[in-house]
Amino acid sequence: MALFEIVIVMGMTLDIQKDRGMSREHVSHSDIASWAADKVNLPKDKATTYRDQARRVREKVEKHLSEHEDFSLKKILLSGSLAKGTALRNLNDIDMACYVSGVSNETDIADLLEYIAERLRTAFPNMSPDQVKPQTYSVTISFKGTGLDVDVVPIIYDEDPDWYGNLVSQEDGSFLKTCIPRHLEFIRKRKNISPNHFAQVIRLAKQWKNNMKVEYPGFKFKSFMIELILAKLADDGEDFSDYPEALQSFFTYIAKTNLREQIVFTDYYPLSKVGSFTEPVRIIDPVNEKNNASVLYSEGQADLIVEAALDAGDAIDAALAATNKENTVYYWQKVFGPSFSI
Ligand SMILES: Nc1ncnc2c1ncn2[C@@H]1O[C@H](COP(=O)(O)OP(=O)(O)OP(=O)(O)O)[C@@H](O)[C@H]1O
Ligand SMILES: [Mg+2]
Repeated sequence: MALFEIVIVMGMTLDIQKDRGMSREHVSHSDIASWAADKVNLPKDKATTYRDQARRVREKVEKHLSEHEDFSLKKILLSGSLAKGTALRNLNDIDMACYVSGVSNETDIADLLEYIAERLRTAFPNMSPDQVKPQTYSVTISFKGTGLDVDVVPIIYDEDPDWYGNLVSQEDGSFLKTCIPRHLEFIRKRKNISPNHFAQVIRLAKQWKNNMKVEYPGFKFKSFMIELILAKLADDGEDFSDYPEALQSFFTYIAKTNLREQIVFTDYYPLSKVGSFTEPVRIIDPVNEKNNASVLYSEGQADLIVEAALDAGDAIDAALAATNKENTVYYWQKVFGPSFSI
């Protein structure tokens, strides 16, 4: 390469760096943060309302923990994104997990759901019976007025002191041995290490996921998997305090590993206990080394996620290199959807 060419290349590099600096003026970390606060996150008052609603359900149900001849209801608690502090404002139901003991291998899921529905109707005598409806793998309680529906998911429980039990998979009805209180603790630990940022980057990644679901038919990416990938990056020392960079590291990780790298945590079991898995995506439940939380993801579904992550990474690069606000917003919209604005 001739000297003048090197000088030109160096000049271009400098331009790109300058543009990156400039584009941060068009859409900066703090622009993303305030858009998230306004348009992505579940507002605090709503979160409080929904948590109160869940607390009332728990209190009512706990008053009626009476024994039943076959099953008995042991505990009901808030689970899912509202419990973890990772909910988006378009949240459409309140997840609660309900521990039921006395369930045998032969018990029909439909009978179990009917039992839970009966207990809930007893706990809410003023509701009309059709406000408590068994669904395929859960029971929903519809409240009149403003509140969201509460979606009660069964956990088949055998008196484990740490509250391990078989969660009925909402995807296919299979039994997943897991521990909701430990999942909450797992996320809480990472939130304590990176207050605000860890949960915020999760919410932004979920916003991207929801946008991809609109864009690509057949796209799916479970929120729990997103959280575990981000927990892995955080544990590996990734700093989440700059949101464009944190997101870029998430997309880069997915693209670089093709989502085929096994992800495991040692909070609740040693690495030596983790066996081998044959599924294409292996994101192992941090509380049970035998449970692959991404067991249902096919090669095709994994490829779609990788492709979408590559596109998102390119869009962020383009956003950071864009020289005016209009273009910068255009590229961020490719990531987050048309609701992105500053
Ligand atoms: N495959 C699984 N194995 C073990 N536990 C799981 C599994 N899938 C979900 N869970 C449990 O269910 C909770 C809810 O996870 P999920 O991905 O369904 O949605 P969420 O966190 O409520 O997010 P959102 O509803 O906003 O998409 C998880 O935090 C975890 O405790
Ligand atoms: Mg949920």
